[in-house]
Amino acid sequence: MVAPPIRARWRATLSRTIAPLALAALCGGAWAQPSYPTRAITLVVPFAAGGPTDVVARTLGASMSKTLGQSIVVENRTGAGGTLAPNHVARATPDGYTFLIHHNGMATAPALYRKLPYKPLADFDYVGQVADVPMTLLGRKDLPPDDMPTFVKYAHANAGKLNLANAGPGAVSQLCGMLLQEALGVQLTAIPYAGTAPALSALLGGQVDILCDQTTQTIPHIKAGNVKLYGVTTLQRIKTLPDTPTLDESGLKGFEVKVWHGIYAPKGTPPAAIETFNAALRAALKDPAFTRKMAELGADIVPPEKQTPQGLQTWLQAETEKWGAMIRKAGVYAD
Ligand code: MLT
Repeated sequence: MVAPPIRARWRATLSRTIAPLALAALCGGAWAQPSYPTRAITLVVPFAAGGPTDVVARTLGASMSKTLGQSIVVENRTGAGGTLAPNHVARATPDGYTFLIHHNGMATAPALYRKLPYKPLADFDYVGQVADVPMTLLGRKDLPPDDMPTFVKYAHANAGKLNLANAGPGAVSQLCGMLLQEALGVQLTAIPYAGTAPALSALLGGQVDILCDQTTQTIPHIKAGNVKLYGVTTLQRIKTLPDTPTLDESGLKGFEVKVWHGIYAPKGTPPAAIETFNAALRAALKDPAFTRKMAELGADIVPPEKQTPQGLQTWLQAETEKWGAMIRKAGVYAD
């Protein structure tokens, strides 16, 4: 067989190469670059599996994955009061496949840790806020006081003897315990865990006396009567526990801790990925499967203006100033 002349062979090769490129150009590049997301997305949680942050992350992830058409894999990176996870995400490849869910700890860490290796306000892109969650003050089931006024007397009578479980410096359980200690005027011994899931197990096992923790983990144990419940940390009573007094009502005037949650991406994540992830977040915040579960666990979905990147950024800025001033005044440091 006689080989075709060189020019004819070259023309054939060229048309095989150029035709697909021309088609891709006509399709605006969509053919060459499949639309986001094309694989599973990782959502990093700073605390232990099974705990309150993890419950919000997994319920949210299940709902968002319905919109995204890809799974959201929750990764628990625990340690250092919830600061290891943001440090990891700040350094992750900003490709739209790694996100972080975190709470008030994003605002308190810069004041608590003088050597924080990341900057919450500078090292992330913002997706939006999720839900606000009240906290509950719990005692082990066999702790003698049955209500808050009796607990206050008991704490004074046992000054220096009560221990409080928490998720380490930077966790809201630690923040709540710090404020409680100040409000009571009694020294509490803090016992840190990798999250409030193991902290609650220690309370259920009677190894620690008290724990301040979010309703997203505590409601089932309160309803089952596994713990003593002394009060809620919001200024108003909450719908899921209507008969439970607030700590403010019980004499700790002005005592308020509300936990808020935001979603972040490493700085430099493509804006289109942030937009798609935010749209899936907003869809989840309307999804009955998510809203019903959050309502059962005492959490309030944030209003639409907080569900945006700008809503989260403005909020983080304000909270960083508020808690930063309080922590610096108290002179409490984690490092
Ligand atoms: C905390 O800050 O106490 C955390 O939310 C605990 C957790 O999620 O385990």
